[in-house]
Amino acid sequence: MANGLDDVVAADTVLSDVDGAGGHLTIRGHSLMELAGRRRYAQVVRLLFDGFFDDLPSDAELEKAIGKARVEVFDRVQPMLAHLAPLDIYSSMRAGMAILPDGDRLADALRLIAAPAVLTPALLRLGRGETPVAPDEKADHAGDMLRMLSGAASPALAKPLDSYLVTVCDHGLNASTFATRVVASTQAGLTSAILAGLGALKGPLHGGAPGPVIEMLDAIEASGDATAWLRNEIANGQRIMGFGHRIYRVRDPRADALKTVVRQLGSRSETGSRLAFAEAVEQAALEVLSIAKPQRSIQTNVEFYTALLLEAVGFPKEAFSNVFAAGRVAGWIAHAREQQATGRLIRPQSRYVGPVPDLVA
Ligand code: ACO
Repeated sequence: MANGLDDVVAADTVLSDVDGAGGHLTIRGHSLMELAGRRRYAQVVRLLFDGFFDDLPSDAELEKAIGKARVEVFDRVQPMLAHLAPLDIYSSMRAGMAILPDGDRLADALRLIAAPAVLTPALLRLGRGETPVAPDEKADHAGDMLRMLSGAASPALAKPLDSYLVTVCDHGLNASTFATRVVASTQAGLTSAILAGLGALKGPLHGGAPGPVIEMLDAIEASGDATAWLRNEIANGQRIMGFGHRIYRVRDPRADALKTVVRQLGSRSETGSRLAFAEAVEQAALEVLSIAKPQRSIQTNVEFYTALLLEAVGFPKEAFSNVFAAGRVAGWIAHAREQQATGRLIRPQSRYVGPVPDLVA
């Protein structure tokens, strides 16, 4: 048995399908390309939630309700922010989310959607010695997240961030979604299930990769020779961050969706030169990987261009996984509700391979 549960089907879902051979991602009947940059994040939240909550309002009403939830979450967490800030930014966000009520209603879900978008900028500001900025319930979700981060509206950056949140909103039974479904299957509330997803997302083999992508780009720039740097990493048994995927054997379609957004931002000269450099590193990495691991098709994954996009809209690298969580939380909640609806506890078996006790006569 493979320890990584490769090829095991553990759930039926109407939410999303990852076609690893063809390089396609389908979300509730729509290809990723139909959604990213075309639907707002709140609309995609509604798409994912449809059928899983009785009282789901229209797109416009849901966007307003998410705005109200941002304000509610800010009011709840504000008194404890200073106590959370000394932790790393991901752990402090997770701790802030842990105090949210553990229910299964739409209001509980919307608080969980709002929480990473509120906590991340507030904690980043506190870490810089600045006062957190309160949410504006009338603003769009991505735009408000950036306004809470910088203190001023950045309309040119809101749409790219919104496209990012949509691009990562759901992705089959990845490690964090599986963890979320396992906890949801016990009929624990949504907060408990989402905390499980947050734990799984943190690791560098999953959602923790984009920060290290920036570190890699910086190290390669300093070294002046991408191919030599990458070869040396492989020779030392290291993995190249932002490359490889358990399901995709071709290019991750989200990488191209995000690269398009970064290219649009590239008219800002700093982003344009960073993109050109990253593209050169990507080519070098694909060549080095194809030679070093010829038996495995290792292609660019979502995290490579995530790093560039989130850097371009103003997030520091230590907060990249928080922003990933701000998008993925919609998918986690929908999967949790879908799993709860089955009424079936997820409880696989292990095979005991340890020592056996001596039989006492
Ligand atoms: N760099 C170097 N070698 C790699 C990489 C990589 N990025 N990815 C896979 N390999 C190699 C492995 O070392 C292994 O080689 P070996 O057979 O000689 O031992 C072979 O490819 C197969 O590796 P597995 O671990 O079986 O592949 P798996 O499908 O489990 O890997 C994973 C998927 C974990 C994402 C891997 O590609 C990886 O570690 N990538 C780097 C981290 C990263 O980018 N994570 C983000 C993933 S996207 C997401 O979760 C949102």
